[in-house]
Parts: sequence; structure tokens; C-alpha cells
Amino acid sequence: MRRIAIAVVAPTLSFSLAACGALGGSGSSSDASPTKGNDLTVGLLLPETANTRYEKFDYPIIKEKVAALTRHQGKVEYANADADAGRQAGQMQRMIDNKVDVILLDAVDSHAIADMVQKAKDAAIPVIAYDRLSEGPIDAYISFDNELVGEVQGRSLLEALGSGVDKTDKIVMINGSPTDPNAKQFKDGALSQLGPKVTISKSYDTKDWKPENAEANMAQAIAELGKDNIVAVYSANDGMAGGVIKALKAAEVTDLPFITGQDAELDAVQRIVTGEQYMSVYKSYPTEAETAAQMAVAKVQGKDIQFDSLTRDRVSSPTHKNIPAQLVSVVALTKNNIKDTVIDDVFYKVADICTAKYREACVAIGLLK
Ligand code: GAL
Repeated sequence: MRRIAIAVVAPTLSFSLAACGALGGSGSSSDASPTKGNDLTVGLLLPETANTRYEKFDYPIIKEKVAALTRHQGKVEYANADADAGRQAGQMQRMIDNKVDVILLDAVDSHAIADMVQKAKDAAIPVIAYDRLSEGPIDAYISFDNELVGEVQGRSLLEALGSGVDKTDKIVMINGSPTDPNAKQFKDGALSQLGPKVTISKSYDTKDWKPENAEANMAQAIAELGKDNIVAVYSANDGMAGGVIKALKAAEVTDLPFITGQDAELDAVQRIVTGEQYMSVYKSYPTEAETAAQMAVAKVQGKDIQFDSLTRDRVSSPTHKNIPAQLVSVVALTKNNIKDTVIDDVFYKVADICTAKYREACVAIGLLK
């Protein structure tokens, strides 16, 4: 059964990036099975650099956690595809040729990469889909509850619009890349909330999740709908919300509509402080990334009980059913809970957010005295 979006405003996990390296104590592998010791290599394939999460959080956290779990003997072989599916296939081929022990795959194109997943399988290299559910014979999947992400975004917009919300209110949807299965889940989740309450006047899928493509689509929506006729913009993530705001400002919209996002990027948190962006979705990357590292190491070392306990959920891809998975919950981030989320979890310091330009706005919402 699906959880209701409102249930996600759970207490955030207390986590410190600084403490990341100190996690070696738990689950360290003195009990490594004969399958493979600690001198293992985890191949990590991430999809792009346009959105900041991958290089700022996912990669460094996974790297540190693999080191901590292997008494600093294990390593991560990392490649980023820069939104190029062909390049990612080449990177994965190289990892197979290099005989890495396991691959964490965050696919640029979840369908196109299926052949490479099969090749890895043929070479007896397990593949764990990371964040995006890739097709082909993967061994497991670790991600957030992506439909819930969309529900949280949709529900937040309705909350912002308040009781006066009218079915004739016009909304623009700026969705993610059509090659990313998460984008469809975000969209479906958001539509489940917005569909019955407002009119989706324009809806775009954004090539490669690129902010500049979102900006161009938004400019087109403004031209067609009229700059004062849009009450809210559903943007699937923060990078694209930045593009949407640029388009609105270029059209000289002074009273910005409510705009969503996702990823808790620093720029977006600053826009939330000033009120330019209504919300983001705060996803605990440490939980996702550290769990991925644990799954990868457990898989290579043949720790089946630990692996099973990390993958209690089940998901299906277009090619495979009942894939062992873990889906991590998410939190809506608005100006009311910046402290309880990104500050308390040491994603950012108050000083990172409240630079001179944002000082006044930070004081106004109680982030600074
Ligand atoms: C999604 C991911 C989001 C966002 C987006 C853009 O797959 O779940 O967190 O970063 O890609 O890269």
C-alpha cells in the first residue's frame, strides 16, 4: 500500500558528513567471507554533473563508506557520464574489462544500458541499480521512494495555493528526463495530487534534466499562456527550478508563482529563504549512498544475510520482477524546516546559506539572529 504524502514529514535522520569517515566501526569486515576479502573494487557509474548532488554527495559518501567498511583496503572506481548514455556504456564496458567486483549503476538511460547490465552479469559482476531503476538483470536496487517525492511536491503546491484553489487554476509541469525512470514516477506522484484540483495547462519532459532546457520550455509556456496566468510551476528538481525562475524574470514576472524543486541544492535553499522558490524535496543522500556501499560490499563478500536485510522491499522494472530493493523516505523542505533538515544534518552550515546577499531574509525567517 502506498503511504500518504503527509506521512513523510518524519523526523530527519541525524547525520554528519564530517562523521562519515568515522562509521567504520559498525559493519567493518573482520568477518569477511572467503568469497572476497577487503581488497575489493566497487565500480560507480553516475549519470551527470549538471545537478550538484552527484559530485557533492553521492560520490564522496560512497567512497568514504566503502573505505570504512573495508579497513581502507577497498576502493571505488568512479566514472560520470555527463548525461551521455553512449559514454556511460563505454565506462561500464571498461569496468567490466577491469574486472571490478561489483557495479553501482545510476543510469543515464535505464533502457539503453540493459545490454551492458547483461554483459556484466555474463562476466559474473553483480550490478546494483543506484537511484534510478535500470533495466536488465540487476541484483538489487537502492533509491528513494520516488513516487512519494512527486506526491510531496504536488501536495506542497496545493498547500501553498491554499483553500482558494480552483480547478481552473493553471499550472505548468516541468518534468525530468524521459530516459530517467524516476522522472515518470515523480510526475505520476505529482499528478495524483494536482490532477484532481488544478488544470495542467502545459507539461514538458526536459531533455537531460538540463536547467537551460527547462528555461526554454518555461519561456514557451509563458508565451502561450500569458505571464500573469500561471499560479504555480511544478519543477521536478532544483536545477530546473533555477531555469524556470530565469524564464519568469526574463518575462518580467514580478510576483513569482509557487515553484517546486528537489535535491536541496544550496542555490535552491537560498531561493527558499527569499521566497523565490516555494519548496524542495530533501533526500538524505547519506542514507542512500551509505546503504549502497553496504549493499555492494556485502554482495562481494558473500554476506547474504546482511544483503537481504538491506533489501527488504521489492520492485519491478520493465524487464524484471521482484527485484530486492530499499526505498528511502523523503521530506518536504520549505522555509519552515531548513534548520531541522539541511542544517541539523550538516548538509550546509548557516554561513553557507546566509551569505551577505541573504542575510536579511535569513533573519526574517529566524535562521540568523
Ligand atoms: C533523478 C534523481 C534526482 C535528480 C535528477 C537530476 O534521477 O533522483 O535526485 O538529481 O535525477 O539528476
